[in-house]
Amino acid sequence: MYIDDEIKKTVLDVIDSGWYVKGENGKLLEEEFARFCHAKYGISASSGTAALFLAMKALDIGNGDEVIVPSFTFIATVSPVMLAGATPVFADIDLKTYTMRPDEVERLITKKTKAIVPVHLYGHPAEMKTIMDIARDNDLKLVEDACQAHGAMAFGHMVGTIGDIACFSYFPSKNMTVAGEGGMITTNNEELAQKMQMMKDHGRKDRHTSTLFGFNFRLSEIHAAIGRVQLKHLPDWVDARRKNAAHYTELFKGADGIEIPEEMGWAKHAYHLYVIRTDKRDGLAKYLKEKNIATGIHYYMPVHKQPYILDNYPEVKLKNTEFCAERVLSLPLDPQISFEEIGHVVDEVKKFLSG
Ligand SMILES: Cc1ncc(COP(=O)(O)O)c(C=O)c1O
Repeated sequence: MYIDDEIKKTVLDVIDSGWYVKGENGKLLEEEFARFCHAKYGISASSGTAALFLAMKALDIGNGDEVIVPSFTFIATVSPVMLAGATPVFADIDLKTYTMRPDEVERLITKKTKAIVPVHLYGHPAEMKTIMDIARDNDLKLVEDACQAHGAMAFGHMVGTIGDIACFSYFPSKNMTVAGEGGMITTNNEELAQKMQMMKDHGRKDRHTSTLFGFNFRLSEIHAAIGRVQLKHLPDWVDARRKNAAHYTELFKGADGIEIPEEMGWAKHAYHLYVIRTDKRDGLAKYLKEKNIATGIHYYMPVHKQPYILDNYPEVKLKNTEFCAERVLSLPLDPQISFEEIGHVVDEVKKFLSG
């Protein structure tokens, strides 16, 4: 995680100011992040999960409603739907982008469907053109889970401006962070923006009057101030991630036994993660660990298989999701990794696979 002297000074400035919540930094981060996404409004929140819950509540999603979500994602895509009282309905994914398949979404629509939540997984956007058409034709709301996709684009549009609402996470592992917990919502809809601003602050229209459901989902000033400094670097970091991912891809060209990430012609991948797929995933992960190369698995257990969820969905089978969960492996990638380090990782992966 990137921390520099400017960030340290910013934190001290906020401490010295004595203004810790509901201040200028929060407001400015909302404006600046919305500008980065080319969105009209930004609403800061205490986490990406909180942002997704606010989106559900702002769209009046609740009891009796169904929301179509992928299962191949972090559980926080789904739990806000459930907390709002709605039923998640799981769509399978595309094997190239790892994002929800539009034909699956169409298949799952019922009279109860109220919204679709595509996830721009690993930083690659979901196929938003067809998903938008499906949403429009069926009068459904669209909430982008962009928690992993700061800086990604689909069909010439920044993620965060495509659906009715988009949600971002500033968790420390993300493309930008607030060095703690934090999130952001973007929307072009003024009414929804105002509603979520109120809902994240107890539904208050003024200090003493709550006119809407609400809770405390505010982002604190220290985190907002850190986020503002990080945001200045974000465009360069996304470029560096893309350059490093391209280097991996170049070195892996022609390698047998693995699938490497692909960027669709209509997409700009933000490369939150560089994820390969291989039948020998567990052996490869073990081998790389022995060589001191840290890897991750996103995700080992799809959401519909989580013990907490499984009881309600024992019959759900998602072929591609389950296939990928057994085979994906995230290789080291951040803006700072050197070409030498990437070369070393690729050599070791190839060595293992040819052994
Ligand atoms: C796809 C996805 N959705 C939602 C979240 C939730 O974000 P947060 O951890 O900030 O609550 C995350 C991040 O962890 C995520 O990766």
